[in-house]
Amino acid sequence: MNRIERLNPSEAKKKTAALLFGAAAIAIAIAALVVFEHVPSASAQMAQTRGAIINDANETSIPEGFREWVFIGAPLTPNGLNGGEAGFPEFHHVYIEPTAYAEYKRTGVFPEGTTIVKELVLLHEAHYEDGSRDEASGRGFFADRLAGIDMMVKDSKRFADTNGWGFFNFGHHEPPYAKTAVAAPADACASCHTANATKDMVFTKFYPIFGLK
Ligand code: HEC
Repeated sequence: MNRIERLNPSEAKKKTAALLFGAAAIAIAIAALVVFEHVPSASAQMAQTRGAIINDANETSIPEGFREWVFIGAPLTPNGLNGGEAGFPEFHHVYIEPTAYAEYKRTGVFPEGTTIVKELVLLHEAHYEDGSRDEASGRGFFADRLAGIDMMVKDSKRFADTNGWGFFNFGHHEPPYAKTAVAAPADACASCHTANATKDMVFTKFYPIFGLK
């Protein structure tokens, strides 16, 4: 027996061990795939609804955890600049459901189910008539108390009459907000968005984040 022949049995053992190890790894990978296929992930569930779930009566509730969604901007209409009574006082904190945002970023289109929440927030007590006050950072407008929720949900079929979006008002007052809201009639919300919004009923021009790729 020469030296190479003597080494062969141990080489063969190594090869067998490697093959067994490989087979075991593949089996584990297949098992993992089977398990994950059958357990829908949280993100898959979100993708189906993109936030709000609307029942047959066109009624919905405020989506849980919306304040952890993507924060897209904060338009400001101070009471002090609107005769003491802004239509939507005062900061508007606007959030979009994250999977809808990801899809918009990819395609430039709001997918079905897109949910956008606008939470009204009142200013700290004013020092000046325009609603502003002095703070360490300068004279300006500073958010204080939560004061209402408006929401829009894209569903092209269900809300065909209001340009494909349902509009919901959970009250313009401090929390607790209304638990549920029914889609608002066109003249309450959608007509103004139809006339003035910049893209598919949304005022995208006030949210520079939509310009990011
Ligand atoms: C008179 C016009 C007008 C009416 C009526 C109106 N909106 Fe808007 N809405 C706006 C404007 C302008 C913005 C963006 C700037 C801002 O918030 O000030 C906006 C923003 C929003 C946003 C954030 C997404 C976006 O398009 O910017 C939501 C959500 C929203 N409105 C829901 C509602 C709901 C619900 C109602 C009815 C209760 C309603 N709106 C009525 C003008 C209107």
